Amino acid sequence: MQPDVNPFVYSRPLAPEEIIDRDQETETLLRHAIGGHFARLFAPRKFGKTSLLRRALADGHAKHGLTPVLVDLYRVSSIADVTVRFERAYSRALKGPLRARVEEFLQRTGIGLSLGAYGISAKLQMESRFDPLPALHALLDLPLTLNERGGRRAFIAIDEFQDIARIPDLDGLIRSHIQLHGDVASYVFAGSEPGMMKQLFEDRDRPLYGSAVPQRLLRLADEDIAAYVSERFHDTGRSVGEALNPLLATALGHPQRAMLMAHRLWEEVDQGETGAIEHWNAAHTATLAELDAEFDARWRGFDSSEQKTMRAVIAGHGSPYRAEVIRRLALTKSMIRRALPRLTATAEIETVDGAHVVVDPLFAEWIAGIETE
Ligand SMILES: Nc1ncnc2c1ncn2[C@@H]1O[C@H](COP(=O)(O)OP(=O)(O)OP(=O)(O)O)[C@@H](O)[C@H]1O
Ligand SMILES: [Mg+2]
Repeated sequence: MQPDVNPFVYSRPLAPEEIIDRDQETETLLRHAIGGHFARLFAPRKFGKTSLLRRALADGHAKHGLTPVLVDLYRVSSIADVTVRFERAYSRALKGPLRARVEEFLQRTGIGLSLGAYGISAKLQMESRFDPLPALHALLDLPLTLNERGGRRAFIAIDEFQDIARIPDLDGLIRSHIQLHGDVASYVFAGSEPGMMKQLFEDRDRPLYGSAVPQRLLRLADEDIAAYVSERFHDTGRSVGEALNPLLATALGHPQRAMLMAHRLWEEVDQGETGAIEHWNAAHTATLAELDAEFDARWRGFDSSEQKTMRAVIAGHGSPYRAEVIRRLALTKSMIRRALPRLTATAEIETVDGAHVVVDPLFAEWIAGIETE
């Protein structure tokens, strides 16, 4: 008998064949890549950026022969960090004869780069005064080497790109290389902080201004989540039953929240059983309990006008300026006007069809619970 394994993954990026929908987003990214255009992908945390990038890279490789490279810049804070991340990315990406050729090229530069275990990070650890900058220049130029002798176009996805904004002049340095790569590499820059991404790409004074086509990753459609959840319940000898609708109504298309609740619900329904409202209630309570500490920390990170503005957005169903809400929360319009852009810049709140919406539906529920405490 097959082991009874929970099929809903919510804590890491998904394998390309495991993701719900995103066909169109993948196509768009590939179209830009093949056309030699650079793209920037924006979505709040946990909307499936990394999963989509992996899918696009895999398809780009399988269908169009692109050389896929995924660089993760999560929390980089120095040139040395960025250099290590690029080196590791190429080390993971390259295989076979191409890897051998690149390794030989890197060795020949004599600056300590290697796709093997003793690359730049070993060098940085051993020599405290080592300057990583020449190595970063060499890595940023690797697409030119990959493309030599009739090689293929590289498809380079840089994840958590907004984190470079904290390193002075790095966007200028990156631009100075990639602007020469139109024929050899396509880039997609993904980021989860709209404020930072905007600064990097929409400020006229920044080097990357206007250099990449924007693409926003939206919520998933209820019918796509429904089909996925039902199918996986079915494949593991269960039926999701009437527990499905409250799950969809609570997740509001948020990809990670939908998967998290599906995971918890699956735990409640035994093999051979059908999901009922009691199962849903238990799963829902378990989910909120699991997130309580995280939400509490997030809440404490807000100042008082941000807290009140979050509450006003929820209480006003998208319109925080309603008179009775403002009065009850002892808010002023100018406090809201100042807090909203900050909350939008960090993707706590997004604007959908003119209304303000809390991005994370479970956080919204937790906040609404404060009212009744
Ligand atoms: N298209 C999708 N289909 C199903 N689940 C998804 C999808 N996109 C995201 N998820 C869910 O969200 C979780 C996080 O996905 P992923 O790591 O790709 O998102 P992310 O936006 O890169 O997150 P982070 O902000 O942490 O980097 C996955 O484990 C999965 O549960
Ligand atoms: Mg990610």
